[in-house]
Amino acid sequence: MIFPEDFVWGAATASYQIEGAVKEDGRGQSIWDTFSHTPGNVADGDNGDVACDHYHRYRDDVGLMRELRLGAYRFSVAWPRIQPDGEGPTNPRGLAFYDRLVDELLAAKISPYVTLYHWDLPQALEDRGGWTDRDTAYRFADYAQAVHDKLGDRVTDWATLNEPWVAAFLGYGNGVHAPGRRDPADALRSAHHLLLGHGLAARRLREAGARSIMLVVNSAPVLTPAQVNDPSAVASEADAAATDRIHALLTRQFLDPALRGTYPEEVLAAAERNGGTGHIKDGDLELINAPIDLIGINYYNPCVVESGPGLPADAAWPGSEDVRFATTDAPTTAMGWPIVPDGLSRLLVRLSKDYPQVGLMVTENGAAFDDVVEDGRVHDDDRVAYLDGHLREVHNAIEAGADLRGYLVWSLLDNFEWAEGYRRRFGIVHVDYATQTRTPKDSALWYRDVIGRNGL
Ligand code: FCB
Repeated sequence: MIFPEDFVWGAATASYQIEGAVKEDGRGQSIWDTFSHTPGNVADGDNGDVACDHYHRYRDDVGLMRELRLGAYRFSVAWPRIQPDGEGPTNPRGLAFYDRLVDELLAAKISPYVTLYHWDLPQALEDRGGWTDRDTAYRFADYAQAVHDKLGDRVTDWATLNEPWVAAFLGYGNGVHAPGRRDPADALRSAHHLLLGHGLAARRLREAGARSIMLVVNSAPVLTPAQVNDPSAVASEADAAATDRIHALLTRQFLDPALRGTYPEEVLAAAERNGGTGHIKDGDLELINAPIDLIGINYYNPCVVESGPGLPADAAWPGSEDVRFATTDAPTTAMGWPIVPDGLSRLLVRLSKDYPQVGLMVTENGAAFDDVVEDGRVHDDDRVAYLDGHLREVHNAIEAGADLRGYLVWSLLDNFEWAEGYRRRFGIVHVDYATQTRTPKDSALWYRDVIGRNGL
């Protein structure tokens, strides 16, 4: 199985999950600092204060990437390092870190893919309403411009937001993520302001000369339990209505405004029932519908639902009344997430048909397993099987005509897995947090060889 000649192979991380050094070089506080230091929010009371200490070890980490033959590295910039209070003058020492990182990557012939927002909002902005406040979208565009001013002479590939669904609905809906607020109206408002921030930032990046701009979403095919095992299984009318509605809330809520300039009616109906649509101002959808080049897809597992008459909406899913979130008999990862590799090809083929004007890139895919280090090795056969299965489906999607440009594994390193803390290990490289020793797992060596032969 050989991939297209210019196929991009890489790995992804995010600032708060790996950097540590939270008080260094003038970094301001983020909502994840506040959230993780509030007891009860994160498993084992973990926080990102030190994480993988990547802020100090980035040179060695880039060296590791070179050994693994990565062609691309997707990382995120911590907004509070650039603007400690979320607005106003930039902090030169914060910018300098990413400047050094980019130079190190380029010297190693690794293309930097810069994500501007991977959830670490400056706390000062949250104190003024966070993403429920429209002004945050304008602050985000200014910040995006500032980062481009510094790195745009060398960085060509930009992503505005990572997974706005998670930022809005886990951050402001069910409160499992920072800032930990729980209000369906706040979640829907936040989703809109994140989109507005995306559109405003995308325009600024474009004007500044960015070559490639993408929006990264957590997407998944929404399936009935029967469709997990049998893609051709025909859903009842009620079940089909449930899968369509959840697809609208998860994926179309973001991609329709960004790529078509419209909201799905399911989203507007959910907003009508939860605080109204007054936050959607005239002209917003045109701003959000800024030209972009790629959709980044983060895929881990399908979303499985069926009709559930009388059920109230789930806190993370305003608008999901009468829907049951179901389980499947597929094997699961340590996160409890079902392993369904062909969900990825089904998703990619559908999105490439629904949004033909942009290319696609898998910007995250990977799995947590309970790894053990034995004699300096980690025999993570389960992760190799997961990645192998999903890469075969990536190849199938390309054969089926999807315009797929690359694949980035989540993650380069074991890291701070948000509300799960350090107990969930997604890395292809093991991190011993006591010593900061990096040990490439068998999956890393396997991935290096896949990249080397550009195929499986
Ligand atoms: C995604 C996040 C990423 C990581 C993986 C497991 O939702 O973007 O930071 O936590 O899940």
